[in-house]
Parts: sequence; structure tokens; C-alpha cells
Amino acid sequence: MKGKKNKEQYRMRTHLVHGNFQSKKWDYDHHVNPPMSASAMYRLSSSQRGAQGFVEFANEDVDKTQHLPIYIYDRLEEPSRGMLEENLSYAERGNICLTFATGMAAISAVINVLCEQGQEIVAHQVTYGCTYSFLNGWLPRFGINTIWLEMNDEQALRAAISDKTRVIYFETPVNPTMTMIDIAAARKVVDEFNHGRSEKQQIKIVVDNTLATPYCQRPLELGADFSVQSLTKGISGFGTDMGGSVVSESQYENQLLLYRKDFGGVLNPRSAWTFLVYGLPSLATRMSNQIKTAHHVAKFLREQPGIDKVVYPGFEDHPEYEVARRQMTNPEGKFSPGNMIYFTLKDAVDNGKQSRKVDKFIDYIADRAYCITLAVSLGCIKTLIENPYSMTHAALPEDEKRRMGMEPGGIRLSVGLEDWHDICEDIKCALAHA
Ligand SMILES: Cc1ncc(COP(=O)(O)O)c(C=O)c1O
Repeated sequence: MKGKKNKEQYRMRTHLVHGNFQSKKWDYDHHVNPPMSASAMYRLSSSQRGAQGFVEFANEDVDKTQHLPIYIYDRLEEPSRGMLEENLSYAERGNICLTFATGMAAISAVINVLCEQGQEIVAHQVTYGCTYSFLNGWLPRFGINTIWLEMNDEQALRAAISDKTRVIYFETPVNPTMTMIDIAAARKVVDEFNHGRSEKQQIKIVVDNTLATPYCQRPLELGADFSVQSLTKGISGFGTDMGGSVVSESQYENQLLLYRKDFGGVLNPRSAWTFLVYGLPSLATRMSNQIKTAHHVAKFLREQPGIDKVVYPGFEDHPEYEVARRQMTNPEGKFSPGNMIYFTLKDAVDNGKQSRKVDKFIDYIADRAYCITLAVSLGCIKTLIENPYSMTHAALPEDEKRRMGMEPGGIRLSVGLEDWHDICEDIKCALAHA
């Protein structure tokens, strides 16, 4: 657009609100909002153009930055999704982004693109339940095994890496324990092992950035090779749509495109439009407010006699506070410890199981609380609560969960946009009835 200043001169918050006025994916100069495309297939003006589209798709010799894609079929490439991908790769500070139908579709895509039969993944012992069951239940069928460990234990990491290792995988903060994994420390170890390895054998670091969102943390800047996330969470923000993304360097784009074409888990363009028009533009405002509220709620929780422990990366006594301060910063460099809290009630465990007290606390919230909802998912403008041990993380083995700081009765709170006094009041009433 003639006369417009370069958007790179503006801060991320502003950029996310406005996105791109123009896109190589689609010319929409005269729209204030990007238009929504809803077409499974695209009209081709000649058979020659149709053939050209197939030749150019995921072709290494085509410079995508200089070239309008020839759209053929939604499962290959599509403009609403393409525009979202441009903005997500900017937010995550990568070169390319591919979106998928869900976070799990994105995670399985990056792993399947990187790993071949006989190779291994080294992963932090606690991951989102479905990531665990994907790595532990499905991948061994294809000869790809995962070694589980405490990722911050450098000695254990060094001991686990072998010639077979292809991927180092972790979430940070870890869902739901809120453990912080040091990305730079993992990078240092991986660089040493990568020395002398061929590109196909290089170990890649894949970080799940779902809990932080790119507003609070940008893993590629910190040393990761891939940042994956569930767009269903903080990017959506309103709990209306599902999606997932992989952000990385340009060299992986074609492989990911080919994988997505054949496995088929594409993001619905209507959801892409929702993320593009509502999710990303409101991300900075939502997250900065949710962080402030989370801080108040975490402090309140800590003062309650009925509460045993509260884990929040914004607390100075968080075990990895120094890592949190280094990694969790907003694009202006301000410490941004996110909106997620993990806590336990006193007497939360009875005979190795979640106690009646926790049942009563949660059931009171489910029944009576106005501004806290018992539901899975996170990063929503509505405050959500759940018991990860028996719900989102049910797939993980009991002894491993306990060893890694997840207890029956542990509670995950995703703080929303409500007034913090009201959230605390609902918790206070639930504690009184527990
Ligand atoms: C950390 C993390 N990664 C990945 C996922 C999977 O995302 P989706 O539900 O969009 O497939 C989740 C879902 O809760 C999650 O919490």
C-alpha cells in the first residue's frame, strides 16, 4: 500500500491488531478485515495453469516470498489459512508457519516429518496427556520410541541421547506442573551432540509453546528449532475454534506441506479467519490482563489456610524462577509469566486417591461458581478449572505422574479476564464448602 509506513517499525501488539494490509496470499487492499475464503476448490483458468499449480506446490525451486500461490484445493493451500500463517510466523519469530486442524495434528505432523523408523525421541516426562499417548502408544508401532526423563537434568539428558536420537521434545511451562524447562540449556547440549552429524541425523528441539503463547515466550529466539502450539488455547482465546501450528525455519516448509497434504489434518479456513480477526489482534491485551489477574489470584491462593502449594512462574520461589524470568518475556522484554496456576488443597490425597475434600471443592465450583467453569482447555477469556491427574493427563502412568510432581487432587487453573476479586470470591466460597 503506497505511503504506508513499514509495519516492522511498530511493536508486536500493534502489528497483531492490524496484521498485513496486503498479502501475497490474497489481494485485499480495500477490506478493513481480511475476507474469509470458503471454497474447497479453485477455478483454474487453463489446464496449463492447473499443471503449473501441481508442479509448484511444495517445490524447492519456487521462491514463495516472491510468488503468488496457485490455489488448487483447500487441503493443499488456502488463502485465509495462508494469511494466518504469515501472522503466526511473525508472532513466533520464525520464517514459516503451517497450521493444522488441532494442536495434536500439529504435534504429530512435526514428529512424523522429523522421525524415521529406528530413530528416537527424548521427551520431558510430563506432557499433555494426548501428546504422551501419541508418543508412547502410537509411535512405537512405526519403530519410533521415546525416552522419558527430567529434561532439566543435564546429566540424564546427555545419557539419553544416542545415535538414534532425532528429537528433543518438551513443553515449557509444562502442563500442568508449571515446571520451566531451560531451552538454552537443552540447545547447548544438542549443539554438542550435533557436531559432525549429517542434516538427516541432526537432533531437533521441538517446544510446545501452548501455555505461554508467543506473547509470553518465543521458543525459536531461545534456541528451539520448532515451536508448536494448540491454537485452540491462548491464540483462539474465546474457546470457539480448534487449531494447531508449527513454526520453524524455511527449510522445513515443503516437507510439512507435503505431510499435511497427504495426512490431511488441515485447519478449517473459517477457524483460520476467527484466529486472524479475533484471536491474534486481541492476544496482547488479553494476555497482559490475564497475567495481572493470575498474579492476584495466585497470591490470594497462597494466603488461604486450606491451600497446600501454589505453583506459578511469577513467584520468586518457583523452583525455576530464574529460567522463567529469562524465557517468559513479552515482545518488549517485560517479564510475562502467563495465566496458568497449579495448586493443591491440604489433605488432597486420601488412600492414594483424590480426597473427598477436593471432590467437594471442585463440585461446588461446577455447581455454584459464576465465574469459574469446570472444563478442560486453557488460555480462554473465561476462567477454567480442572483436575489434570484424572482428566487431561489421565493417560500418563500413575507412578510417573507422582514422581514428576503431579498429585491426585492437583488443580489446574487457567485465569481468564474476569475481575480478580470475583475469581477469588468463588474460590473462597468453594474452600469454605470443601
Ligand atoms: C500443552 C498442550 N499441547 C497440545 C494440546 C493439544 O491441542 P488440541 O486440543 O488443540 O489438539 C493441548 C491441549 O490441551 C495442550 O494443553
